[in-house]
Amino acid sequence: MNLLNKVAVVTGAGSGIGRAISEKLASQGAFVYVTDITEASGQETVNIIKRNNGKAKYLPLDVRNPEQVEATFQKVANDTGKLDILINNAGIPGQPSSIEQIPNAEWTNLLDIHVNGSFYCLKCAVPYMKKNGSGRIINMSSLASETSLRGYGHYAAAKYALLGLTETAAKDLAPYGITVNALKPGVIRSALTSGILSMAEEELAKATPLGKIGSPSDVAAAAAFLCSDEASFITGATLIIDGGFRLVNEMDNAMDRFLSISNS
Ligand SMILES: NC(=O)c1ccc[n+]([C@@H]2O[C@H](COP(=O)([O-])OP(=O)(O)OC[C@H]3O[C@@H](n4cnc5c(N)ncnc54)[C@H](O)[C@@H]3O)[C@@H](O)[C@H]2O)c1
Repeated sequence: MNLLNKVAVVTGAGSGIGRAISEKLASQGAFVYVTDITEASGQETVNIIKRNNGKAKYLPLDVRNPEQVEATFQKVANDTGKLDILINNAGIPGQPSSIEQIPNAEWTNLLDIHVNGSFYCLKCAVPYMKKNGSGRIINMSSLASETSLRGYGHYAAAKYALLGLTETAAKDLAPYGITVNALKPGVIRSALTSGILSMAEEELAKATPLGKIGSPSDVAAAAAFLCSDEASFITGATLIIDGGFRLVNEMDNAMDRFLSISNS
């Protein structure tokens, strides 16, 4: 019960990684405000947590709407008088498209959800955390902010931007005992990756040094660590959860042949 009596807000908590993080934080004793744009799935996350004797409440939240973000954090503060943890997780992948063909509205929407939404939530969370003299903020970036991702220029731009937000916020907020870190998941099984996995699961698992696709609980474990007391000296950092996927490159096959150390 590492997080006993901590209050957490998780965005996009109705599905995949956000749901797994919510479950994990609740299993460690936190009261989790499960927020999502979709009520039915957010409520289902709450039901799962409650079935496991955890504490959670659903609040509707579209992170693109700054007024709704403000009202949501106000509600949390009215209920609990404090806020310890913010997980900026809500996100969509957008439609894949070559860079010059991405519609302006699609580009703006992606940046609105991932970047503006995370900024609005961070801005509303910080005053409560400053009052506490401590806080944990985690921004969900992606391996796409390291390797780029063909066809997803809008998504990659948003995920790179979150690293800038993470690092500058970490510096600004360190004097108040607030840490700000980012997670960079690789390929994780969720609604967001169901399309690509339906076409290339075997190939992607084979290309991953640890030989499998990640699960939302792998990311949740990393998030829980960054929220724990053990991580109190870590800020402005990025934790990669990708089974080693980023390490693989075109040289590997050539080197295997050259050194005759192929595993096959
Ligand atoms: N799955 C992966 O492989 C992977 C890899 C790297 C990063 N990520 C990131 O992890 C996060 C979670 O992704 P996931 O794989 O769990 O996807 P998911 O589709 O399972 O979950 C995303 C959740 O965000 C919610 N959401 C969408 N728009 C919203 C909005 N405007 N306001 C509030 N909630 C909104 C959805 O309703 C959904 O519940 C995203 O930021 C995604 O970019 C995922």
